Amino acid sequence: MQQFSVTKTSLFPSQKNRALLQTVLEVSDLHVSFPVYGAEPIAAVRGVSLAFAQGEVVGLVGESGSGKTVLARAIMGLVPPPGRVIQGRVLFEGRDIGEMSEDEMRNVRGREISMVIPNPRSELNPLLRVGKQIASVAKYHLDIGWAEAERMAEDMLRKVAIPDPKRRFESYPHELSGGMAQRVVLANALICSPKFIISDDATSGLDVTIQAQVLDLMRNLVREHNTSTLFITRDIGITAHFCDRVAVIYAGAIVEMAKRETFFENPCHPYTIMLLAAFSHNPRLRRQWFKEGIRFKPSELGTACPFAPRCVRVHDRCRHEERPALHEIDPGHFVRCYFPVER
Ligand SMILES: Nc1ncnc2c1ncn2[C@@H]1O[C@H](COP(=O)(O)OP(=O)(O)OP(=O)(O)O)[C@@H](O)[C@H]1O
Ligand code: SF4
Ligand SMILES: [Mg+2]
Repeated sequence: MQQFSVTKTSLFPSQKNRALLQTVLEVSDLHVSFPVYGAEPIAAVRGVSLAFAQGEVVGLVGESGSGKTVLARAIMGLVPPPGRVIQGRVLFEGRDIGEMSEDEMRNVRGREISMVIPNPRSELNPLLRVGKQIASVAKYHLDIGWAEAERMAEDMLRKVAIPDPKRRFESYPHELSGGMAQRVVLANALICSPKFIISDDATSGLDVTIQAQVLDLMRNLVREHNTSTLFITRDIGITAHFCDRVAVIYAGAIVEMAKRETFFENPCHPYTIMLLAAFSHNPRLRRQWFKEGIRFKPSELGTACPFAPRCVRVHDRCRHEERPALHEIDPGHFVRCYFPVER
């Protein structure tokens, strides 16, 4: 397999298809770390580069603690202190998010970039009727009057498939089921037709049937509005239905990224295959790719391949050389591994 280095122009899966599309958001070599008193800082995000074309849905898959939320928050300009971006940048429509003032950022958040998180109740004000909450987002960002904002909010409740939207407009959050509350949060996130949306494990608290409904709805709405999306999940299976492109993150770094079809037909990184094997009903496959009992610890990263202790293909080189770089093994297919699986 021929190997190429990652270049700025090769971040998209298909040059031919994507070249003419506008890049809405671009993350370049982003590093985020958390200082730890008396110890090495925790490197939560380590050199992530990812660009989103208009309307493109990119799935980001990785287990707990791999850096998904920290990356999402860095994109929103909201890294929780004492964490900070120590290198790299996020460009939204060519503007550097790190250089925007708090006022500029407030206008961007909610209006142009918005985020949906798993616990809808923490997002909603328990004392305000849900219709009013959605309408106030529109009023604040779009500079419109109450009547227009409320009309938009009711329309949005209809779009997120809330039954009897007129009546639900007047409900308080505690009167809604979890699935309905998540739809309201989605309505809040989409009311201003943002150009970029982040869904951070947004449906993980819902039961499976409701989760599927909310996901379907989200997919239809982002397609309809041509919204670029970062779709974060721990469930690699969901990305097969939802995303144009899939990236796998391990220990704060992307280890594999490809167009959805390539990703599922030809996964190459041992960690990707391990995640896929976890979903398989074939116990032999699971045994083949799993090393039991070893978990990733962010405080024990080292400088070599961080997946080495768990990798069934590990060689001496993996333990002793620098962490492998991300290579483009086929056009648009990137892998960070010295010994990618070849088919
Ligand atoms: N506020 C914080 N203070 C210190 N370290 C943090 C903080 N937030 C995150 N981290 C570190 O960053 C790493 C990545 O955390 P992050 O929340 O991004 O994981 P995640 O991939 O979103 O996990 P999950 O799937 O459980 O949501 C964690 O392992 C943790 O060590
Ligand atoms: S570099 Fe080595 S240890 Fe790391 S994922 Fe590849 S084969 Fe496994
Ligand atoms: Mg998270």
